[in-house]
Amino acid sequence: MSAAKSPPLADVLRYAAAAWQLFRGGRSIDRALTAALADRADLRPPVQDALYTAIRHLAASERFVERLAARAPAADVAALLSVALAQLQRGRHAGHTVVDQAVTAAQWSPSTRVASRFINAVLRNFLRQQATLVAEVQADETVRYNLPAWWIERLRAEYPREWMAIADSQLQQPPLMLRVNSRRTTANAYLVRLAEEAIGATLVGAQAVWMHQPRPVAEIPGFADGDVSVQDAGAQLAAPWLGIQPGMRVLDACAAPGGKTTHLAELGAGDLTALEVDSSRAIRIADNLRRCQLSARVIIGDAARLETWLPAGGHASFDRIVLDAPCTASGIVRRHPDIPWLRRPADVVQLTTVQRELLDALWPLLNVGGRLLHVVC
Ligand SMILES: C[S@@+](CC[C@H](N)C(=O)[O-])C[C@H]1O[C@@H](n2cnc3c(N)ncnc32)[C@H](O)[C@@H]1O
Repeated sequence: MSAAKSPPLADVLRYAAAAWQLFRGGRSIDRALTAALADRADLRPPVQDALYTAIRHLAASERFVERLAARAPAADVAALLSVALAQLQRGRHAGHTVVDQAVTAAQWSPSTRVASRFINAVLRNFLRQQATLVAEVQADETVRYNLPAWWIERLRAEYPREWMAIADSQLQQPPLMLRVNSRRTTANAYLVRLAEEAIGATLVGAQAVWMHQPRPVAEIPGFADGDVSVQDAGAQLAAPWLGIQPGMRVLDACAAPGGKTTHLAELGAGDLTALEVDSSRAIRIADNLRRCQLSARVIIGDAARLETWLPAGGHASFDRIVLDAPCTASGIVRRHPDIPWLRRPADVVQLTTVQRELLDALWPLLNVGGRLLHVVC
């Protein structure tokens, strides 16, 4: 069997640059890729990789362009430069190949085509001065941590002692963490199964297995059958904290894509309601329940407005409530490097207001002696 042929790097750069522009316009990585690859979904894996690489080098690449270009380039040219400069910094392809392929990618549209000599010059100058330029920009904290200045200021103010360690940890590649479905197997039995397939893994929590080499979910043994789900080890602490007992009424109030819903069901939550405001995301809860062979009531509604999901004049009460509220997601930057660049300072206040409304609406639904867990990432 022959290995799949890699697409031309020029195509990857061109589509990554298109996604980059959408991302800089405010779209998440996922939405930017879906829109940019509408006619070339087959290119998603390499383009996604190029976009992540570009975002992980965002602050440095923008600084390099400021130093190497006499004036700020147009948005589409800047996008192509950012994705190409990130490839040069990563060093997986020969420098001259990246430059050549970026110039080829520039031929795609009239506005980048007229700038192809400029693109060529900036990239070649970067290669010539790479060591000096890299050393110079590292002195800048926004480059060192690849974070906007306002984000660093807030982090420093909130965590005066730990902020550098936090920012450093967010530069690391995130591990692939699995949660073993206790309804179907045990963590130890699953580790044996991985060992039999020569897959390196370590138990790092009651049900948490760290798979040493990241791989697509389709290649994770037992994933399709619901033996395991992908979930960070920290997130795996939420459901057990609730101490689910048989017969309890449980509400997962912001549930998609269902990571905690499925965990609650695995722990024996029989009377389980999963509530989600976004109907397209709610589909993923149902998909995950089906894959794990578990069940719950999936309802589309706004947890802050009871009338949108409770029967008219109806009342509901729960013994356990999980409120995994919309948040800045500042704790999952290493998995989602786009987050600091998509957020604005005003979002912090706006999101805490939303969290307050959710808490005010849900608290009265908790039975006396019940537990409500407010989670943010
Ligand atoms: C952090 S994610 C939840 C992750 C999920 N609990 C898990 O473990 O897989 C937050 C979710 O809350 C949903 N959401 C936001 N506002 C909501 C609201 N007012 N009512 C219900 N769901 C809401 C979002 O669409 C998003 O899917």
